[in-house]
Amino acid sequence: MKKVTAIAPANIALIKYWGMRDEEFTLPANPSISMTLRECVSTCTVAARDDGATEDEVLWVDIGGRVGSAPPWLRSGVVRQVERLRQYVGKTVALRIATSNSFPTGAGMASSASGFAALTMAVGSFLGGPSTGDTLSRLARLSGSGSAARSLLGGFVEWPGSADDPDSPARQLFAAGHWPLCDVVAVVDPMPKSISSREGHRRAPGSPYFARRQELLPARAERVWRAVGDRDFDRFAEAVEEEAIDLHLIAMSARPPCFYWQPATLAVLQAVRMLRGEKANVCATIDAGPNVHVLCLPAEVPRLSHVLSRVAGVHSIIVDRIGEGPRFVDEHLF
Ligand code: DP6
Repeated sequence: MKKVTAIAPANIALIKYWGMRDEEFTLPANPSISMTLRECVSTCTVAARDDGATEDEVLWVDIGGRVGSAPPWLRSGVVRQVERLRQYVGKTVALRIATSNSFPTGAGMASSASGFAALTMAVGSFLGGPSTGDTLSRLARLSGSGSAARSLLGGFVEWPGSADDPDSPARQLFAAGHWPLCDVVAVVDPMPKSISSREGHRRAPGSPYFARRQELLPARAERVWRAVGDRDFDRFAEAVEEEAIDLHLIAMSARPPCFYWQPATLAVLQAVRMLRGEKANVCATIDAGPNVHVLCLPAEVPRLSHVLSRVAGVHSIIVDRIGEGPRFVDEHLF
């Protein structure tokens, strides 16, 4: 029986997508830049249903390899995206779809970008539609997870999100081998965040500082881009941390506010500042949640992991690094 399996990684934003210009087409208020990860991945296997059923079957494979029905919230998102892909390709076949994450689902790592990237690749390819390229980028982000478009590429990735191009694809800025940064994630709260990114995007323009953020972003994005190009960690750290605080300033000052931080979030930020005071090449960024991604040069990982795991309120540590992007494999989930 024909099966297609795709593996796609999570990514961490260096310049954050926050606020939507167009909700229907999932177009962002601003360009974003991210680093694709290597170990935190989603896998998706697709085949046609062989039992005559006309509905899609959505399976979830847990980290121990046990296969079960997907929970309703996951099933509905998957089925909506599959329907969109079927319509695009013009096919009606009912599918069996299984997905899994390499990282604990309760670890507080955003899995929608990697999950929708893997799903869109696997289903697109299975149905004979696009499995790479600009159209795939558009189809992935139409899932509602704009950052999924960035998970289709490896290394350092930009999603310009321009209105002039309907595909508005993400594109690679530098390959993973250019600068082998690591990401040590201090998981502060393993539960799903209380306010979704989608809701955060909606509220963002209500912040009195949102317009000013748009003015500041082009220069900051350029600083990140240049620092990565020059492999200059000090300049990278300064711009990345400025951006992380800016995102949360907008979130916290939105109406109603989105407060993602917890006491341990601040404690981790303080530990990172302390390490930087000791000349360590580390810097912190935070997506829409309380967990802190500490980006660093590989030599810093042992000491950094040790220090972060001792911060009061840190639940667990995930060590990841920059990755090459998604791929198709011959090992299937079913
Ligand atoms: C703060 O709408 O792409 O992470 O659906 O949760 O993947 P998910 O979010 P999405 O917004 C991402 C918001 C962000 C910043 C970023 O990744 O650019």
